[in-house]
Amino acid sequence: MSFTTITPAPARLNRSELAVPGSSPKFFEKAAAGPADAVFLDLEDAVAPDKKDEARKNIIQAIGDVDWGDKVLSVRINGLDTPLMYRDVIEVLENASERLDLIMIPKVGTAADIYAVDMLVTQVETAMGRKKRIGFELIIETALGMQNIAEIAAASPRNESLHFGAADYAASTRMRTVQIGGANPDYGVLTDAAEEGGERAFHWSDMWHYAITRMVVAARANGLRPIDGPFGDFSDADAFSAHAKRAAVLGCEGKWAIHPSQLGLANEIYTPPAAELEKARKILAAMKDSEASGAGAAALDGKLVDYASIRQAEHLVKVAEAIDAKG
Ligand code: GLV
Ligand code: MG
Repeated sequence: MSFTTITPAPARLNRSELAVPGSSPKFFEKAAAGPADAVFLDLEDAVAPDKKDEARKNIIQAIGDVDWGDKVLSVRINGLDTPLMYRDVIEVLENASERLDLIMIPKVGTAADIYAVDMLVTQVETAMGRKKRIGFELIIETALGMQNIAEIAAASPRNESLHFGAADYAASTRMRTVQIGGANPDYGVLTDAAEEGGERAFHWSDMWHYAITRMVVAARANGLRPIDGPFGDFSDADAFSAHAKRAAVLGCEGKWAIHPSQLGLANEIYTPPAAELEKARKILAAMKDSEASGAGAAALDGKLVDYASIRQAEHLVKVAEAIDAKG
C-alpha cells in the first residue's frame, strides 16, 4: 500500500437510492416503507420552477414527520449556478430534524463548489447547534465535473459518495443519446471481415464505460462510494439490469431508482451473488490455513489465491454482513 492512507466514508448500504420529487409528498410514505437502502428527496430537476418553495416545505416537514426507518435520507439541493441553492441549504438545515443524513449536490464542477457548500453547511450547523454532521453526495454529470473529479472527490471530509448522472452528463458532453442512461446502437464494434470468413458481426458497446470507470477510480481513491445514477426507461427491466450489472462489475456499490419497480432489481444486483460469496469465504479459509502452515499463497480449486485475494474476498463478505444486519 501507499504511505498515503485512505479514510473510508462512514459505511452505509447504498445498493438502491430512490429519487422522490419534493413536490410530490404523496410518494413520501411509500418511499419510506419500500425496499430502498437510500432515498433522496429532490429539490432540483424533478421539481418545476414554480414548485420549489412548496417542495422545500414538504421536505422539511417530511424529514421529521415520516418514519424513514433505517434508510439513508438525503435531500438533493439545486445547483450552485441557481438563485435557489443557498435557500435550500439554509432553510432545510435551519428547520429540518436531525434525521437527515446527507445533502446531494448536483452538477458539481470544481472542488471550490464543494468548499462553498461546505462553508454554508458548516455555518448553519454551528449556528443551529446541530449535532449530526451532514455528509455530501456529489453528482458528477458535467464535462467540467468529470475533468476535475479527483480534486472534487478530495474536497471535503463531508464527502461520502460520487454519483454518475447520465442524463446531464450526456447533455453536457453532447453525447448522442436522448435516453437517460440508455445505449446508442451507433456505439459498437464491427468485426473484421477477413477474420470472420466474410461474415461480419456488430457488437453494441457500453458508451458509459469511461465515465463510470473514471468515477469509480476517483471515488475509491478517496474512500467514497461510487454510485451509478438513473436509468430512465423504467418499463425495460432487462435493460436496467444489464446496465446495473455492468456498473457493479466495474466497482459501483449501487444505483439510483427513478421508479419503485427498479428498487428490487438494484438491491438484488448489488447484493454479492451467493456463489461469489461462497467462493470469497472459501478463499478466506484457504488463506487462513496456508498462513498457519507458513505459506503466503495457496491453490484453491486449481487457482492461485494470495493476500490480494483476501482483500477482494473481504469486501464481498463485509457487504454481505451489512446486508444481513439490515435484515
Ligand atoms: C441525474 O441527475 C442525471 O442528470 O442523470
Ligand atoms: Mg442531473
